Amino acid sequence: MEFQLLPGGVISGEARVPGDKSISHRSIMLGALAEGTTRVSGFLEGEDALATVAAFRAMGVDIEGPEGGEVSIQGVGLHGLKPPAEALDMGNSGTSMRLLSGLLAGQGFDSELTGDVSLCKRPMGRVIDPLRHMGAQVESAQGGTPPLHIMGGQALRGIHYDLPMASAQVKSCVLLAGLYASGDTSVTEPAPTRDHTERMLRGFGYEVRNEQGVISLRGGGRLQATAIDVPADISSAAFFLVAASIAPGSDLLLTHVGVNPTRIGVLNILRLMGADLTLKNEREVGGEPVADIRVRYAPLQGIDIPLDQVPLAIDEFPALFIAAACASGRTVLRGAEELRVKESDRIAAMAAGLTTLGITNEVLDDGIVIHGGTLGGGIINTYHDHRIAMSFAIAALRATEEIRVLDCDHVSTSFPGFDALARGLGLQISARVD
Ligand code: S3P
Repeated sequence: MEFQLLPGGVISGEARVPGDKSISHRSIMLGALAEGTTRVSGFLEGEDALATVAAFRAMGVDIEGPEGGEVSIQGVGLHGLKPPAEALDMGNSGTSMRLLSGLLAGQGFDSELTGDVSLCKRPMGRVIDPLRHMGAQVESAQGGTPPLHIMGGQALRGIHYDLPMASAQVKSCVLLAGLYASGDTSVTEPAPTRDHTERMLRGFGYEVRNEQGVISLRGGGRLQATAIDVPADISSAAFFLVAASIAPGSDLLLTHVGVNPTRIGVLNILRLMGADLTLKNEREVGGEPVADIRVRYAPLQGIDIPLDQVPLAIDEFPALFIAAACASGRTVLRGAEELRVKESDRIAAMAAGLTTLGITNEVLDDGIVIHGGTLGGGIINTYHDHRIAMSFAIAALRATEEIRVLDCDHVSTSFPGFDALARGLGLQISARVD
């Protein structure tokens, strides 16, 4: 499937984007391991989260839905999973693979985790190393990539792990393995990352401490089923925050957006660039802060992106690069080498697309310099990365010519219905099956 976009447009109206991907994954994992029935609403019916659902079904967990965002999970308890008959296919989802590897390391049975071409190129050494320290037996393909073979029946021991990179997936993997380990398991992070695992564990009645940045839990407890209301994903909202900010005349309200402080780098960065954002109706839903966000067009200026915002906006950089391309002056991003190991090398993929559209940029090892300018049109390669596809779709709002975005099938991993929603809000987008 490809997106075809006519240049120009105004973004207006009100929308609730699909549920948060990170929280949706975790709701299934913890719901499956809890005692009792967990009911989830606002669940993301995207392929990544569905891969997690399929994996737990394959391990004997009874899961109803998702239907209209509602899921009901009959928890089997921490020790109730059954051996899967075949390899668990995580599709495109790094979160599923890295978090599940922690859980599976603590089971009594062997398992194999695999995925699509993109996932099978992504680094898993970052989870294998700490798991081996805990006593797990995990083998990967050469170079530390999937498939992963996890040998069950190992006695895990709690460790302290100093994360070498700011990664919520690695942190969560270690903490989830820690549920099955003897004694305490703790981690420290080089910079704070999304804390949904910690918050949700507490929501399931499991004690997780955070003392001066040392996050810890003790193995051998139990999870009690609960109800989870998944907020709209700020990472999906980000495309429309940028869209409305760059298209003159725009005025948009995005409702029920998750605004967890570990996820709001995109709001902070856009504000520094001059965006007009207002948070309304701020509230807490099931342990996660939520707000409605009003965004109106405003001229943007290029900035040096503060280093401390990088982990807090890690998934939003493709969209932010489009904001930078439409801003006056130069935007500099450093300290973002993690972007090179996402669903694609997002620095290289965005740089290539920006160059196609006539935007001057310089690629750095750990970031990029983008000079704001006039966007032309052209044909964009997405490298099968959902966020690259959606970013170049919104770029059309400020383009002078038509944009064609190739290979957009992966958009449904995180944002099913993106093109229809975007069209309803004013983007001149059509999807063609190629
Ligand atoms: C995620 C953590 C981040 C993020 C990913 C989701 C999570 O990955 O990019 O989309 O749900 O824990 P890293 O841990 O690799 O930074």
